[in-house]
Amino acid sequence: MALALTVVVPCFNERANVAPMVAALDKALAGLAWEVVFVDDDSPDGTSAEAKRLAESDPRVRCIRRIGRRGLSSAVIEGALASAAEHVAVIDGDMQHDETRLPLMLEAVRNGADMAVGSRHVEGGDSSGLSSPLRVKLSETGIRIAQTVTRTSISDPMSGFFLLRRELFDALAARLTGQGFKILLDLILASPRILTIAEIPYKFRPRLAGESKLDVLVLAQFAGLLLDKALRGMVPLRFISFALVGMIGVAVNLIVLQLATAAGADFGKAQTIGTIVAMVANFQLNNQLTYRAQRLKGHKAWRGLALFMVVCGLGAIANIGIAKALYAENGLSLFSGAAGAAVGVVWNYAVSATLVWRVR
Ligand code: GDD
Ligand code: MN
Repeated sequence: MALALTVVVPCFNERANVAPMVAALDKALAGLAWEVVFVDDDSPDGTSAEAKRLAESDPRVRCIRRIGRRGLSSAVIEGALASAAEHVAVIDGDMQHDETRLPLMLEAVRNGADMAVGSRHVEGGDSSGLSSPLRVKLSETGIRIAQTVTRTSISDPMSGFFLLRRELFDALAARLTGQGFKILLDLILASPRILTIAEIPYKFRPRLAGESKLDVLVLAQFAGLLLDKALRGMVPLRFISFALVGMIGVAVNLIVLQLATAAGADFGKAQTIGTIVAMVANFQLNNQLTYRAQRLKGHKAWRGLALFMVVCGLGAIANIGIAKALYAENGLSLFSGAAGAAVGVVWNYAVSATLVWRVR
């Protein structure tokens, strides 16, 4: 029997959910030729080991263990690319999505839809599993922005629960950004033509085991994905993020300068304190946001902070040097200052990427 469906399950620290997921799929997909691919980013809780334990006795179970990488979208992409089935479905590994809807989704695609999307927001759907009012609000705002950008009326564009023909996925794969966690949105935006989407309602279940990995900072990455689309990938997303963080740093610097001056420090001392605080804040923001995938933790974070301060210190020296030289030449202070600052940002970005966060 030809393989009808590969179910891709991105997971991070979902050990306790692996066996229940296989059992649930076994029940929901009875009569179909299916397989499941768990894509685990080397979770410390041993999610991969658990998936491979099941795979030993069940050839329908496969596992991709990725080392040194994090990211929901890229995990989904790699899982789907490992499929040779006729269709690919993506479902969360924490049992919050309703796997019993999969046959219905498959049918919708077999009947001609480009994609079937599990939706919490159409008639019969329910998002009561979303934990806090803040998350509900964030989710609503995201949906509105996404609808505008995708020019579709899809009611749950943030869904991580969908199904499509493998061929279609393969065709779109090279155009995906793989950034952040909104892979569905990434797919829709990657398509040169407007996709027909069948929305299948489901009830978002509360999480039973483990904890959610998606927070407000991940939503900032989502904004980045949209910005990247708007700029058509001309400017690297990381650079935009780095530059925005830099602007926040300037604000932090000025605020601390004001506060320290008000508290009686002389200008030189106040500006030194302001600069140091801004650097620490920038390191934190970049570590959480710009380089989220290679986030430094523990003693590596301290080492990274020290390196970051050295790199930015050199960047500041370059900035001042270039600005001074230009100013001496043309006497245009605003232009010279901006040119110096631009060189400084590019230097800080390029050097800290390779040295501090070791991006390959
Ligand atoms: N491999 C891998 N790498 N898997 C990950 C990563 C990662 O970096 N981060 C999260 N996952 C897995 C989780 O283990 C889980 O199976 C799934 O991706 C979704 O993550 P959750 O942390 O459970 O997400 P959620 O419940 O908060 O988010 C839900 O709502 C979003 C829309 O707001 C999910 O339904 C998402 O799919 C959906 O996009
Ligand atoms: Mn979840």
